[in-house]
Amino acid sequence: MTIPSNRLDLTFQKYQNDLEAKAISVLRSGRYILGEETLAFEREFSDFLGGGHTVGVACGLDALTIALRILGVQDGDEVILQGNTYIATALAVTHNGAVPVFTEPDKNFGLDPDRLEEAISPRTKAVLVTHLYGIMTPMDRIRSLCDRYGLLLIEDCAQAHGCAWNGKKAGLFGDAGCFSFYPTKNLGAFGDGGAVVVRDPEIARQIRIYRNYGNDEKKRSLTAGVNSRLDELQAGLLRVRLSHLDEYNQTRRAVAERYLREIKNPLIRLPEALPGACNVWHQFVIRCNQRAALQNHLFKKGIGTDIHYPIPPHLSATYRSLGMQKGDLPVTEALAETVLSIPSYYGISEEEQAYVIDTLNAFRV
Ligand SMILES: Cc1ncc(COP(=O)(O)O)c(C=O)c1O
Repeated sequence: MTIPSNRLDLTFQKYQNDLEAKAISVLRSGRYILGEETLAFEREFSDFLGGGHTVGVACGLDALTIALRILGVQDGDEVILQGNTYIATALAVTHNGAVPVFTEPDKNFGLDPDRLEEAISPRTKAVLVTHLYGIMTPMDRIRSLCDRYGLLLIEDCAQAHGCAWNGKKAGLFGDAGCFSFYPTKNLGAFGDGGAVVVRDPEIARQIRIYRNYGNDEKKRSLTAGVNSRLDELQAGLLRVRLSHLDEYNQTRRAVAERYLREIKNPLIRLPEALPGACNVWHQFVIRCNQRAALQNHLFKKGIGTDIHYPIPPHLSATYRSLGMQKGDLPVTEALAETVLSIPSYYGISEEEQAYVIDTLNAFRV
């Protein structure tokens, strides 16, 4: 049996007719940027979340960069984030002239509130939480720490469309929720796309202006903005996908629940499902100290895997200037050396799941 690490064709095939019809209708509409589809998607995405004002942008990195900028993060500010997040989370901080302050994650890959409190300094301006792998970070203590210290709270929800904490959706806990619609995401476009969700309508208005060169609706230039818009074709296709997102997420949840129940091997550590957290399992990430051997064992049995992520941002060439060394973030670094994402994509069959489980359970060193 051959099982790749991911398959996007299955998500497409399920609603192929609707997606093709939508693509044709947008192509025939004659309106390709900032039209009805984008407006409707923005409305529907806020409805899906249960609040907030959504502004579509070109990608997840732009969503983060623009949100931080409009909320006032600037040169010399510090932004606290977990060390094991994706590089793009940190880049958004850097692109605003601010300094990323990496902290060790908790045992479930999320920002650890204890470490967060230790990292707060007089220069701290914001806290950036990534709900990594579609696992919801418990938000109560983080929210109250941000309130106590007067810090902005921004959520990187690139992997967390539909995650919730005690019934409230990821993206609504802080000053901004930033989403990516990169094709592999739980809500994936057919190209790049992203969105910022904010509670404050005035901030939403400023983001709308900023994403469109800094022009208002009357084409008056108000600020030096950027060109970062979600286009009509992606917005239209995302609307089709959004209407099925609960179903997509539910099937990923069923796969994760089965893996959590049936993968039993003392060499493999499984993620935890915390009470109160509704996860969407963007990736199903296991940990193994003998990762290379495990990956090779799976490969030989036809099972593809991936590593999210092999080099943590603080050890990347990009962040050499921070002067951090190997050993500075031992928990983060151990994760980079042990995490392995196994196939858990939408559409993986029950038989394929069983094969993945049996192959993992048969692993020995
Ligand atoms: C956690 C995280 N943040 C940010 C991004 C950036 O999103 P995009 O690729 O749409 O720019 C991604 C996705 O790639 C991501 O996984």
